[in-house]
Amino acid sequence: MIIGASGSIGTYAVQLAKRLGAEVTGVCGTSNVDLVRSLGADHVIDYHHENVHDTSKRWDVVFDTVGASSFADSESVLAERGVFVPTVISIRSLFGGAWTPITRGKKLVGGVSMNKREPLRYVTELLADDALRVVIDGTFPLDRIQDAHRHVDTGHKTGNVVIDVA
Ligand SMILES: NC(=O)c1ccc[n+]([C@@H]2O[C@H](COP(=O)([O-])OP(=O)(O)OC[C@H]3O[C@@H](n4cnc5c(N)ncnc54)[C@H](OP(=O)(O)O)[C@@H]3O)[C@@H](O)[C@H]2O)c1
Repeated sequence: MIIGASGSIGTYAVQLAKRLGAEVTGVCGTSNVDLVRSLGADHVIDYHHENVHDTSKRWDVVFDTVGASSFADSESVLAERGVFVPTVISIRSLFGGAWTPITRGKKLVGGVSMNKREPLRYVTELLADDALRVVIDGTFPLDRIQDAHRHVDTGHKTGNVVIDVA
């Protein structure tokens, strides 16, 4: 499950997870349901209408790209040895994530990759081959970079924002 599937990280995550053979559930708002499905998600949950943590379904991996949930929130929807991957790690998640593997086998995985070269080469090649779709929300000229930041800071952009420096 990819929470924030319509964001910058999320739109790539959906595509990469599909390429790697996962069955993907994308979580996004109503206006982005069609987009997330078009990126390859097998299932889409509209977070305006459904609470992703209030279900009997289970996922092997919950990747929360937008900091919408904690490890504790996600524990109930993780499979037996499921993994919670946040991009935004809260103190609450850190403690829960450290303790739970000892007691129940579910775990939190986070941090900065030490192996950057290979993953970057992989993504670069996919982009060069047009095998990865880049979703652009909008383009701002450099002298309107403050407006661009304001827009990004709303947490409601779709995909990526481009700054035109030419
Ligand atoms: N992008 C980067 O390069 C980057 C780099 C380092 C760190 N980060 C951090 O990583 C986090 C994610 O960044 P991002 O740029 O990928 O995010 P983003 O593009 O700002 O994500 C926004 C998208 O997430 C959706 N969304 C918001 N709340 C949601 C929820 N509760 N459930 C499901 N979808 C939700 C929004 O849809 P609606 O409009 O429908 O709400 C919107 O389409 C941020 O905290 C950012 O600071 C990002």
